[in-house]
Amino acid sequence: MTPAERINKLTDKLNHYNEQYYQNAISEISDQEFDALLQELEQLESQFPELKREDSPTHRVGGTITKEFPTVVHKYPMLSLSNTYNEQELLDWDERIQKVLADRPYEYICEIKFDGISLSMTYEDGYLRRAVTRGDGTQGDDITANVKTLKSLPLKTPTKAQELGLGESFEIRGEGFMPNKVFERINEDLVADGKEPLANPRNSAAGTFKMQDSSVVASRDLDCYVYQYLSDNDDFKTHEESLIALKSAGYNVSDSWRKVATIQEAIEYINEWSDKRHDLPCATDGIVIKVNDYAQREELGYTAKSPRWAIAYKYKAESKSTKLLDVTYQVGRTGAVTPVAELEPVVLSMTTVRRATLHNADEIERLGLAKGDYVFVEKAGEIIPKITKVDDSKFSEEIFREPVKFISNCPACNTALIRNEGEAAWLCPNEKGCPPQIKGRIEHFIQRKALDIDSLGEGKIELLIENQLIHDAGDLYSLTFDHLLGLEKVHIDELTGKSRKVSFKEKTVENILKGIEASKSQSFAKVLFGLGIRFVGQTTGEKLADYFGSLEKLKAASFDELIEVPDVGEKVAQSIIEFFKDEDNLRLLEKLSLAGLQLESQNTVKEVEGNALEGLTLLYTGTFKNYSREELEQKIAANGGKFVKSLSKKLSYLIVGESAGPSKLAKAEKLGVQMISEEEFEALVG
Ligand code: IVH
Repeated sequence: MTPAERINKLTDKLNHYNEQYYQNAISEISDQEFDALLQELEQLESQFPELKREDSPTHRVGGTITKEFPTVVHKYPMLSLSNTYNEQELLDWDERIQKVLADRPYEYICEIKFDGISLSMTYEDGYLRRAVTRGDGTQGDDITANVKTLKSLPLKTPTKAQELGLGESFEIRGEGFMPNKVFERINEDLVADGKEPLANPRNSAAGTFKMQDSSVVASRDLDCYVYQYLSDNDDFKTHEESLIALKSAGYNVSDSWRKVATIQEAIEYINEWSDKRHDLPCATDGIVIKVNDYAQREELGYTAKSPRWAIAYKYKAESKSTKLLDVTYQVGRTGAVTPVAELEPVVLSMTTVRRATLHNADEIERLGLAKGDYVFVEKAGEIIPKITKVDDSKFSEEIFREPVKFISNCPACNTALIRNEGEAAWLCPNEKGCPPQIKGRIEHFIQRKALDIDSLGEGKIELLIENQLIHDAGDLYSLTFDHLLGLEKVHIDELTGKSRKVSFKEKTVENILKGIEASKSQSFAKVLFGLGIRFVGQTTGEKLADYFGSLEKLKAASFDELIEVPDVGEKVAQSIIEFFKDEDNLRLLEKLSLAGLQLESQNTVKEVEGNALEGLTLLYTGTFKNYSREELEQKIAANGGKFVKSLSKKLSYLIVGESAGPSKLAKAEKLGVQMISEEEFEALVG
């Protein structure tokens, strides 16, 4: 079989498996078999790039770097919808429709209004040719490489398209979104990295679709619901027909749409989905009602911005008034004090809310809160409850309405709080003696992304501290069976207020000790993250581990050496230096070293692997999924290539990773240097 034949065969086969999996929920082969075929295709494509097909499944894994997205003028403008917020406005709209259609019968299609970014996909000559953002409605950004990573979107016009009535060339429109599950996963990672979480799935989707590196986009598992078909021919008579045809052809049309005969039925649909929509995989903000018949749509026409034949009903963010019982304060691992509103329980978006964050002292002042006030609670981005304002329509039953005043001393250890310049949070400076800070540091150490000792939940750490068995994470490694057996206490969950008994029986103790023992094999990067050095999150921990290779070297590093590390700025470097100056921290490290934790990076690739890179010079920029910088250099050497430090015309390949430096990319482009992704590099070395 020639390479061209093999590439064609692999492409068709893999597309078939993908279609079966994503559209029909059938797995015809195992994940490993699929990956092996995909890898073979990737390798062939990198050897014969001219044979790579437009519908190659390798587009799904990304690898294309776009510096600036070209602007594309929409063939059919992308209009917006007029919004309504109440029934009366809907009834008025319906009346106008009736009038224009001169009392002839008409139907509506009701759909969920998905809250992401609108995308327009053009299929020409059998392939997905372009995917463009809405932009200003007239022209948008060409983000084809990023959209090709959406697994539910056919890259080729589906085989059944013609038979189902879809034309030769057509456009489909839909809403690109970040599934709620993915949003939560990314936020978990960001928080563990000590970074600010993303505000909501919509903004996260918008940001991700505009990323330069499509392999990062691929890793975020975005998706798209299709809700519109457009072509120059009258392929369908009604919207309903087009939705059915698109769905049968394999497009991801949500099953939530419904055909109705009256505006009353549309209102029923709205009420029905008001709660149910929270179970959908993506954020939603309303309902769209559209006239079904295309000829009637033309009669109704358009305003400058939106069609007269469609309207959006927006759900209000659910907000309820409840009583502020008290304000309590939580002290985190870093000493930051967060005020928390204790509320009379209230049901919001189907969950009972008892507490809401008040963020910081400024927020309390902005709201002008007093104990006993009624306040409006809202679910921001439908995830974290917050207080939006005081409910002035209900009076506080308190005789003296005394505004809440932020505490001046730590609620746990009574130390006077301080506030650093330019920061919103008040801090307890008693790092060494403040119990929640001590506990917070140990909890940070045992979390999944650090040493992963999941047999030691929160209540258990508390118990160990109270019994003076541990003072820092290092003490965990001298715990014995006899220390632990029989310990007991009632634990009250901070969030739910529920209490449960924690007691150490034989099995529990065995599990704890097993978990502690297993943590000794966690990587140096994880240990580094677990130490909780301020501003050193998971990613920075990995970069430091890669760069220095051992705790000894990191400890000996000067400020100037530290800021050489990618991602490490002055603030982080200073914090690392402070950490290693502290006597208690040095004692902790001593305990960890004695216990046998991994305080050095393990280098995996050393030996000679092949000569695929013989005679070639390579340089890289950015960070990589599967390699540290050191590992990548070793991989180049192990395959006969030469790693060089500067960019020149003679360079064979520039390997481009995530968050690659834009100036380096621009220079490489100017010099005409060939750029390859991490995956392409891997395909080269086999
Ligand atoms: S139809 C001309 N249907 O809402 C009308 N739009 O506010 C075209 N959207 O830009 C839009 N779900 O991004 C339509 N089922 C749905 C939708 C939907 C979400 C978005 C879309 C559009 C915006 C208009």
